[in-house]
Amino acid sequence: MTEGHDERLAFARRMDRADPLAHLRRNFIASDGLVAYLDGNSLGRPTVGSAESIQAFIADQWGGRLIRGWDESWMELPFNTGDALAFACLGAAPGQTFIGDSTTVLLYKLARAASDARLAGDGARTEIVLDTDNFPTDRYVLEGIAAERGMTLRWIVSDPTGGVSVEQVASVVGPQTALVVVSQVAYRSGFLADVGGITRVAHDAGALVLWDLCHSAGSVPIELDTWGVDLAVGCTYKYLNGGPGSPAFSYVRADLQAVLSQPIQGWMGAADVFSMGPEYLPSSGLRRFLSGTPPVLAMIAMRDTIDMIAGCGIAAVREKSVALTEFAITLADEWLAPLGVSVASPRDAARRGGHVTLSHPAMRRVTAALWEQDVIPDYRDPGGLRIGLSPLSTSFEETYDGMAATRDVLLAVLREEVGLG
Ligand SMILES: Cc1ncc(COP(=O)(O)O)c(C=O)c1O
Repeated sequence: MTEGHDERLAFARRMDRADPLAHLRRNFIASDGLVAYLDGNSLGRPTVGSAESIQAFIADQWGGRLIRGWDESWMELPFNTGDALAFACLGAAPGQTFIGDSTTVLLYKLARAASDARLAGDGARTEIVLDTDNFPTDRYVLEGIAAERGMTLRWIVSDPTGGVSVEQVASVVGPQTALVVVSQVAYRSGFLADVGGITRVAHDAGALVLWDLCHSAGSVPIELDTWGVDLAVGCTYKYLNGGPGSPAFSYVRADLQAVLSQPIQGWMGAADVFSMGPEYLPSSGLRRFLSGTPPVLAMIAMRDTIDMIAGCGIAAVREKSVALTEFAITLADEWLAPLGVSVASPRDAARRGGHVTLSHPAMRRVTAALWEQDVIPDYRDPGGLRIGLSPLSTSFEETYDGMAATRDVLLAVLREEVGLG
């Protein structure tokens, strides 16, 4: 090991000793043989508390209360859990956030509701603004809505190593814009968008805004009420550690709830769920955005992480997140840049979320080889190795180990490619 490596390892260990969130790592279930988990931005790790809560729920609630559980508490779980999340992570007052279907389905419900409301206004608002590098599901859902409702998609061409700027949105919105849909943190580059600024220019043009918070919730401070956001959706299985396929959350600003109508009219959204009436009469509040029976079991695991973040504060989470991504970029510059790797994420921490993408044509092979060694980042085309650093569960030394393994594997792959392997 060279002197520089010793210094970096010593730095990592010093950072871990000084880390005010270090004790929270003990709350996560250990994975046998794991060297470095660098994908908490895609699937968060399970907590000990969530395993205990699920077991207790099955025994006491499901087993003990049986069908009575619905009347006693489960009907309110989407809203109670939503309020807890809103308090800890979203900067939103109670009564505006719920846990529902998948992000894809909630995107559809809210984007359709918003588009329909604006189409019904003066009939001239027929455009949906989106960007070329938003997550595929966002683009596909909006493509479907445009086809269904005879609307036009207005594309912002976004830089895959950056993201959508306020100026770009300002240049395309106008009297024709019904809805603007952007991700707060870009899934590929990690670019952190200016939610307040983009929301303002969209509102100035008379449009509604729907934010995708999948890669930001639980990692980046969010102020939905202060920023005047209309609508938002986000995953709970990433930084919120809700488990594979755990249901997504939605935020619908209080004054919009009675005005918007979502397209999947189910009995759980009705004003009186158990009246079983002849026709659909929507609830006047947030319940109208539900469709079918809430996924009660799948809502339990996320609560442990929501409570952890409420306890330590999202500002402390962000502080560690920035320090972790800075460290990963420093190591990338020192170790990987000489091997031809470029940082495909913003270098300005103020414009960067919780992950860093490292670009090189060999990264698909590198990722596969790293997984074999229990070093787990993920890969996104073209040539992007994503390093997701989840502040509650990732340490600086783990980041060091993951980056060192990436360097060694890339070196081996490159040697093999030139026949030296
Ligand atoms: C930014 C973003 N939006 C939407 C989704 C889709 O979520 P789901 O598959 O849960 O519907 C994802 C999933 O990774 C995502 O990262």
